[in-house]
Amino acid sequence: MTDQASQSRKILVTSALPYANGSIHLGHLLEYIQTDIWVRFQKARGHQCTYVCADDAHGTAIMLRAEKEGLTPEQQIANVKAEHEADFAAFQVNFDNFHSTHSEENRELSEEIYKACRDKGHISVRKIKQLFDPVKELFLADRYVKGQCPKCNAEDQYGDNCESCGATYTPAELIKPFSTISGATPVEKESEHYFFKLPDFQEFLQDWTRSGTLQEEVANKLAEWLESGLKEWDISRDAPYFGFEIPDAPGKYFYVWLDAPIGYMASFKNLCESEEGKARGLNFDEYWKPGAENETEVYHFIGKDIINFHALFWPAMLTAADYRTPTAVNAHGFVTVNGEKMSKSRGTFIKGRTFLNHLDPTYLRYYFAAKLSNKVDDFDLNLEDFVQRVNSDLVNKLVNIASRTGNFVFKAGGKLSSNCIEQEMVQHFIDQGDVIAELYENREFGKAM
Ligand code: MSP
Ligand code: ZN
Repeated sequence: MTDQASQSRKILVTSALPYANGSIHLGHLLEYIQTDIWVRFQKARGHQCTYVCADDAHGTAIMLRAEKEGLTPEQQIANVKAEHEADFAAFQVNFDNFHSTHSEENRELSEEIYKACRDKGHISVRKIKQLFDPVKELFLADRYVKGQCPKCNAEDQYGDNCESCGATYTPAELIKPFSTISGATPVEKESEHYFFKLPDFQEFLQDWTRSGTLQEEVANKLAEWLESGLKEWDISRDAPYFGFEIPDAPGKYFYVWLDAPIGYMASFKNLCESEEGKARGLNFDEYWKPGAENETEVYHFIGKDIINFHALFWPAMLTAADYRTPTAVNAHGFVTVNGEKMSKSRGTFIKGRTFLNHLDPTYLRYYFAAKLSNKVDDFDLNLEDFVQRVNSDLVNKLVNIASRTGNFVFKAGGKLSSNCIEQEMVQHFIDQGDVIAELYENREFGKAM
């Protein structure tokens, strides 16, 4: 700690890229506020800390949403980006750059990384069968197929598991399946898919996940997966798809999760190449080339639902393509509502914008800070607890002390005394500085508060 504090560090920090098909809600904000607090801390310590993010703009959901709104996907993602940026600014989340995965930088980097994987023999191609919507003429991901559970006959169940009896199955096993997009009965259809050969990286990942890059609880969870053996990862989707076409594979697109994490690099590259980035002396290679891990640090802040993408596929792809891997991946738990993840699909979310219409964003920042630790535990959003914490800590303690002492100072002629009678107490406060800094560094914000 003393070592780190005395030398200026070069740190690149990211938060997960929000999907460009919906509004920012309080669940998302836990992550952006957590990251922003950590970044502010690093900047306050005098380190060169750069915080980048972007909208995650690709995939079927975004394509369908645009269609529904009567917009092109490009218009749709531009609108959402403006909304997201305004929301983040209002919550005082200060990105150094907020880009989009639908960008030239990202296309170039994605193609380059894919080609490197391919040329080294880490890509395989084979035909697979999937459900196909004959009316919309598109392949259906599991979440776009519903039907009756093959086990308990419950109606209106998704293509992968039954919410009524808990059975898991393939969409083809559903009774009376239908496409949730057109209502049509899906047919089975074959097509060629591209796979990233994750098993090639089994040994590397066994070491990497245990090298201090992950929280212990996360590494333990992944160890279970690693022991049961890794599977090849399907990285292609057939047209129509909103994304980047795969080089030398007409009609095949990169699956959104292939180019999403590359979006971290692309956003940083976009910043490096801007006037501002140049003025700050930011250099892409200094952070991403092999060996960079000795000079610079890269941290990803993510939610626990996307650990596999960041702690398995991502380091494997980076290594395959001769890039450095992240210093650490910091996962957090969920903001839950009645014990379930606050989410758009469950309809249990409070938009950031709604909060702002009624309350000061600082209240939320403080409340999340008070609740956060470096663990992946969830916490249930309890509005009474929120009101109580804000009133007792912020209003009754912090603001109250400031207003009372302000009053004393005012009465004494607006000047502070030149001699301090409580030397010991003041020294005690000063001494706590290192303890508090250590808590911030380790993401123990609740304790730091
Ligand atoms: N687009 C992907 C991330 C790609 S990163 C290369 C994605 N987007 S998301 O919009 O669904 O979520 C963005 C982040 O917010 C994720 O880290 C996710 O875990 C987090 N959260 C979403 N809902 C959340 C809660 N209810 N609580 C805490 N974090 C939440 O995933
Ligand atoms: Zn069932």
